[in-house]
Amino acid sequence: MRISHHYVTVLVMGALALVLPAQGQEDSSRDTLIVETILRIEGFDLSSSTKAQGAVRRYLKNEWGGERYLDLIERFELKEEAPGLLRLALKKSESPTGAEAATLLVGLGKGALLGETLEGEDEVAAGQAAKAIAHSGDATLMKALPKVLANPERPLRVRSSALSALYGKDPERQAQLLTMVKSNELAEDLRQTASEILMLSRNAEIREEAKSIFSVAKGDYPSIVELLKRKGDPSRGKELFVTKTCMICHEAGGTGINFGPGLSQIGDKLDARALYEAILLPSEKISMGFEGWEVTLKNNTKLVGIIEETEENLTLTMIGGAKQTIEKGEISSKAKMKQSLMYPGLHQLMTPDELADLVAYLSSLRKDG
Ligand code: HEC
Repeated sequence: MRISHHYVTVLVMGALALVLPAQGQEDSSRDTLIVETILRIEGFDLSSSTKAQGAVRRYLKNEWGGERYLDLIERFELKEEAPGLLRLALKKSESPTGAEAATLLVGLGKGALLGETLEGEDEVAAGQAAKAIAHSGDATLMKALPKVLANPERPLRVRSSALSALYGKDPERQAQLLTMVKSNELAEDLRQTASEILMLSRNAEIREEAKSIFSVAKGDYPSIVELLKRKGDPSRGKELFVTKTCMICHEAGGTGINFGPGLSQIGDKLDARALYEAILLPSEKISMGFEGWEVTLKNNTKLVGIIEETEENLTLTMIGGAKQTIEKGEISSKAKMKQSLMYPGLHQLMTPDELADLVAYLSSLRKDG
């Protein structure tokens, strides 16, 4: 075996030397080509070619987080790259790339780095580590999350991320969280995060119950005509955009995730009336390309999100921004939803005056400041 692999290595490196530009020219594209080639060769023995090793080393450094970065580490079990992998798992903790990095880190036996970051002084990194741990799903690491929650000494930001990591995805766990909220077992300062998690549950019953618990505007809401008479305060509206869950699905002014349409210039597109309508009656006019689909797989899993299709695959972007690519053969049916993916009733989280502040903020978002 070794001999034949070695032979392959020599052959490949020789062939690459012929087609590649001379050293010094386009070093990085040369490294990328080498990396892509060796990844394609089954059983390639990295230890037998110093040239390939050099290219790999430079690629990891220069193309950190690049297209082949994770593949390389996984394929050649490059444990020494664990610190770079950790950085990627933290920095991209909101995206599938970060999730892959976290899983790979644990797979390489270096999951303890995530645990240390979670316990560490840097609160931003600790919050990201909580999310990365949830992505990795590693049972041992997961045990640290409830401990963080129970420790009032830890900063709110870290506890709040731990709460999302523990309860953010799974409706069964969310039912437990709902019980905790109802029986006042949850720290007061975590209620805001809990409301976001529960309001966005995939389970409609949980959402409804959360809405009634967290509603501040009970009973009749003023009509749009009435609301239009109020003059809102855009700077308060900017805070409400963050605290009233909008930023979970929209980006505006540099904050938030683009699951729904970006709102950074929404003031140019919609006037105040149309903004109120978009929030109060989201299903009346659904923006093109952002329709929700319900996809049922042959194993009976139901998924909801925005879809993109190619010949063979369907990619579903779910609330929160996570993407899942599914082979068309695995799908048993798909149907476009009549309801917007933007939940109705979000305005009930706000007093009418707060809603006016939010609309004033959105109106102020224009191309020319
Ligand atoms: C669960 C995800 C989600 C949340 C939370 C959410 N939205 Fe949306 N929003 C969407 C989606 C998806 C669309 C596009 C479909 C549609 O038009 O209904 C949308 C559309 C909109 C539009 C119309 C945009 C356009 O270009 O026409 C506005 C305005 C808007 N949302 C504002 C808000 C505000 C303000 C909040 C917070 C109170 C909010 N959204 C919360 C998902 C969400």
